[in-house]
Amino acid sequence: MAEIAHGLRDVVVNETRLSTIDGLAGKLTIAGFPLEELAPNATYEEEVYLLWYDRLPNRAELDAFRQSFREHRAISETTMTVLRAAAKKQAPMMDALRMGTDTLSLNDPEIDNMSTAANLRRGVRILAPMPTIVAAYWRLIHGQEPIAPHPTLGHAANFLYMLQGEEAHEGSVRGLETYLNTVIDHGMNNSTFTARVIASTRSDMYSAVVGAIGSLKGPLHGGAPGPAMDMVFEIRETSARTGRKIEEVAAEWVNGKLAAHERLMGFGHRVYRTRDPRADVLGAAAEKLYQEAGDMQLYTDARAVEDVILKALAAYKPDRPLKTNVEFYTALVLHGVGLDAKIFSSIFGISRAGGWIAHILEQYAEDELIRPSSGYNGVYDRKWVPIEKRG
Ligand code: CMC
Repeated sequence: MAEIAHGLRDVVVNETRLSTIDGLAGKLTIAGFPLEELAPNATYEEEVYLLWYDRLPNRAELDAFRQSFREHRAISETTMTVLRAAAKKQAPMMDALRMGTDTLSLNDPEIDNMSTAANLRRGVRILAPMPTIVAAYWRLIHGQEPIAPHPTLGHAANFLYMLQGEEAHEGSVRGLETYLNTVIDHGMNNSTFTARVIASTRSDMYSAVVGAIGSLKGPLHGGAPGPAMDMVFEIRETSARTGRKIEEVAAEWVNGKLAAHERLMGFGHRVYRTRDPRADVLGAAAEKLYQEAGDMQLYTDARAVEDVILKALAAYKPDRPLKTNVEFYTALVLHGVGLDAKIFSSIFGISRAGGWIAHILEQYAEDELIRPSSGYNGVYDRKWVPIEKRG
């Protein structure tokens, strides 16, 4: 039997021009740009354009692209009905994003057109309303009526407007935009692979994006930032309640989790053998946000907890570098923007969808069915036993 690549670890399945990770050096390149160069400077729409068209747009192209986003932001009554039904059951955010995104295909006037031009238009039809779905659902589960998209604001600013009911200040918009830019694409991660597997059968873009949302939901992929924030808060609260130093409480908390063989959310990575470069970009964004807000306490406490965890993980797995990943600072940035931990994963989804769509377009162009093999570890030559003779 051929050697089995469990978890497809280190298996190179295709080529992409979209992003590459140097796991040893801790470097992420997105469409040719070092992450540090791109994320703090671009708007999300600019970065999506870069991924889909392989170059930065000029002013006129960007204006037209942003306009097409604005035109497709509103969601239909059907989508809203599904979200209201989900809200009645208080379904998780990621489930609502999955269900809401699925309904978008009903409004596609050229559903059978699989040309590249139609798929690029379809990309906007999917990506532009996803923040509206998340914001509307968040409001519904909190007993508030959804807010219609703003006619002029950019993608990130409009999302905050639809969530919070007023225009966010510039620092928050920049913080969110930097986050959206940072996590848009990341090599052959699980959800991107899922999207490409589905697209490789020549299935439609809606199906591929919806499948990818399902993958992203898992705590080993996109589900970690909420728990990472909860962890910091739990440690802070115990420290405040008992009057003990935060480092001492953190060490006790972390060692307890590791003794129970639990994983610490926001640490470790399949590819990085060093610090996740996205953690640095988001760490800087978080520091700026908290500085501007004039209260650095949470940021300082989170850094203290991080230091304790890194030391504990080094002692726990001396042969396996387990460092801070993107999710730890995602939590800090999104909290600084004024968002609740329960919405974090769905915001990861509305960003990563721009990358998924770029990969789906690439997969359609490649047109190669992804169909690996498996080793069989079952038995052979069983004999049929009629049901009345089975024990
Ligand atoms: N806390 C405690 N132990 C850990 C952690 C952690 N965060 N990460 C890995 N380990 C352990 C793991 O249990 C394994 O131990 P053992 O050999 O005894 O079973 C050992 O370290 C080696 O694990 P690995 O091979 O490096 O891990 P992996 O490649 O299978 O998994 C991971 C990578 C990200 C799923 C894992 O590090 C993890 O579960 N981290 C916590 C969840 C998290 O932060 N997820 C977000 C990932 S970043 C977002 C993205 O890019 O998708």
